[in-house]
Amino acid sequence: MANRIGVVGGDGIGPEVISEGLKVIQASGIDLETVEYDLGGERYERDGTILPESVLEEWRDLDAIYLGAVGTPNVPPGVIERGLLLKMRFELDLYINLRPFVFPEDEIDFQVVRENTEGPYAGEGGVHRLGTPYEIATQGSVNTRHGVERAVRFAFELAMERRRHLTMVHKTNVLSFAGDLWDRTFNEVSEEYPEVETAYNHCDAACIYMVQSPQQYDVIVTDNLFGDILTDLGGAVSGGIGTASSANLNPTKTGPSMFEPVHGSAPDIAGQGIANPVAAILSGAMMLDFLGEQNAASRIVEACNKLDPGITGTIEIGNAIASNL
Ligand code: NAI
Ligand code: MG
Repeated sequence: MANRIGVVGGDGIGPEVISEGLKVIQASGIDLETVEYDLGGERYERDGTILPESVLEEWRDLDAIYLGAVGTPNVPPGVIERGLLLKMRFELDLYINLRPFVFPEDEIDFQVVRENTEGPYAGEGGVHRLGTPYEIATQGSVNTRHGVERAVRFAFELAMERRRHLTMVHKTNVLSFAGDLWDRTFNEVSEEYPEVETAYNHCDAACIYMVQSPQQYDVIVTDNLFGDILTDLGGAVSGGIGTASSANLNPTKTGPSMFEPVHGSAPDIAGQGIANPVAAILSGAMMLDFLGEQNAASRIVEACNKLDPGITGTIEIGNAIASNL
């Protein structure tokens, strides 16, 4: 039976790159049943809809969600991010954000495991005396033993399948409560994986190493905020944001996982046919891999690696990758 996929093209370049991703998946010989959802900033501007409960309920029965990017310049920051992306992550318990970075020219090959449901993104906090000179805003970081441990375990398992090296990134010297929970959990779980060599970097130092010697990394595990920042940097040192793919995983498979490029809706280049679809295509390959179609997934990755760098244009790149298959 064909897998059922929810498709959210979204805004800006989102629909442009997702249609190339679907084209490449089809060329790989995999049959998907797709259900399209008109959601994102444009939809919100049109009728105020962000993510209806009924849609969320439909999604629970899907095998995966394939998302372009959401966000338009006129919608205030936070509305779509919190109301759609973060809600999806929390409600569907997509607790791992997995982001691979591969750039053979520089021998870069590492993956970041970002905890995806807690940390400073959990929404803890509030505001008092809004708009007055005495305004106070707090935004706490939520870290549970359960949440940290499942992310750390996923990272150790991933390292076991790779080069067996795992670096934890945090800021334990300053964020001492959350850092201590992460540190103890990491050390305790590491005892179950004696074959995995471990390391620890403060997040600021990791930014230096990622620029100067990204080759030292195999797997990195980190919290939600540090992972968000580090993975943009990872994209920048390994082929550019136009090639960075990601998966938001519910590894227990009690519901769908979500696959999306790391980049946003890029309103500055939307509608011009120049967005790089490789990030979306590689995210599609991650989706196939997770759905058990490892062979098609690795053929798509190979087809992307063989892409002639002289080819430009969203559709032209999509066609070239499809014909490389
Ligand atoms: P962005 O990733 O959309 O763009 C940053 C820069 O990278 C721009 O110069 C853009 O032209 C370039 N770029 C991005 N993707 C590209 C591609 N595939 N090919 C070539 N160039 C590419 O980030 P920005 O500008 O901060 O955000 C724009 C909108 O996207 C905002 O509304 C933001 O909230 C939203 N956004 C949505 C995300 C999501 O849906 N997961 C993630 C990040 C941002
Ligand atoms: Mg980000």
